[in-house]
Amino acid sequence: MTYAASFEFSLPSEGIVFGVGAAAQTGPRTAGIGAKHVMLMTDKVVRGTGIVDGIEKSLRDAGLAVSVWDDVVTEPTLPAVAAAVEYCKSGEYDTLVAVGGGSTLDSAKATSTIVANGGSFMDYVDPTRAATLKRGPRLVLLATTSGTGADMTRGAGAIDPATGIKHWLIARFRSNVTICDPELTRGAPAHVTAVAGTDALTQAVESYTNRRHNPMADLLNLEAVRICGRYLRRAVANGEDMEARSAMMYAASVLVGLGFGNAGLHIVHPVSQVVGDRYRIPHGLSLGLLLPYLLEFSLNGCVEKLVDVAEALGVPTEGLSDRDVAQRGIDAIRQLLVDVGTHRPLREFGATAEVLDSLADDYAKRPPDLANAPRPIRSAAELREIFRLAL
Ligand SMILES: [Fe+2]
Repeated sequence: MTYAASFEFSLPSEGIVFGVGAAAQTGPRTAGIGAKHVMLMTDKVVRGTGIVDGIEKSLRDAGLAVSVWDDVVTEPTLPAVAAAVEYCKSGEYDTLVAVGGGSTLDSAKATSTIVANGGSFMDYVDPTRAATLKRGPRLVLLATTSGTGADMTRGAGAIDPATGIKHWLIARFRSNVTICDPELTRGAPAHVTAVAGTDALTQAVESYTNRRHNPMADLLNLEAVRICGRYLRRAVANGEDMEARSAMMYAASVLVGLGFGNAGLHIVHPVSQVVGDRYRIPHGLSLGLLLPYLLEFSLNGCVEKLVDVAEALGVPTEGLSDRDVAQRGIDAIRQLLVDVGTHRPLREFGATAEVLDSLADDYAKRPPDLANAPRPIRSAAELREIFRLAL
């Protein structure tokens, strides 16, 4: 670690509000940043739970005009985002309040950027454009799962239905206010909690082990690993365990959202996305299938970082070499994922030995950014071997 190297770190512009019951503050907090006319974005499943009703009431009680738009789709597509943009423009909304999982939060972030800057989603996938973008309708984000950290990050994913490939829009700004209310996650079923928590753990470890210098992000990501190790099993085992729910929301949104949202990722997300896109596997589950193998592949490039991860997970280290401790850290991650049901063989999802070449081809079609990888994947043969182990 050197303190002479430079790094950057940014936050939601008006901050983070965290706590059980915090969603009741949505109205005053949204009015407090100057909102008048709110497009309340969600999906029909979340709306059906009744969560959105209280938030809508809080907004109306604060004197705001509110229209609810519940047409967000899970794993949003380019046309679905375009529909949200059209709705937002037609109502001249000055603020988007989004309540939901990563899909809803991403849809809101993309909508805000496109409404302010024109064009369509694919105009914003080039990250070099971000610096010149204008700020769009204000963003107030409330997550209903503890996983993606999408309530803190600047990216937004959407799938091109013609190719099945997920593209990423890079916005210039984070949210205006992010409200983290663990109560909103109480109703999430065990498998959703497991998949979301796997995303949080993966993002924390993947970001912590990358080569980009960001000491603030390191602190956040490593603490998130510790919390996931201690609380993810509990949150999956008993959704009413609000201590575990709160810990996981703090880890996923506050810590990892800001950690990986500032320091970035490396090979785990892009490789897993190939498998997720091919077999339509939920994001967090695709990560769980591959994370241990990709960490083993990366091990020699990040031994010291994986020693820290192992210690954060409570792995005994006495008398062991650093490399052995690092391997035991990966073993502990594998066991955690097995325990919550997100580390399973690729075969279960339809993969066979015959498709390994074409999966490697899919990866090669996406120009990978390997600058931060502790060990970049340099050949199709290396990738085939990772998929073969995961089969
Ligand atoms: Fe993720």
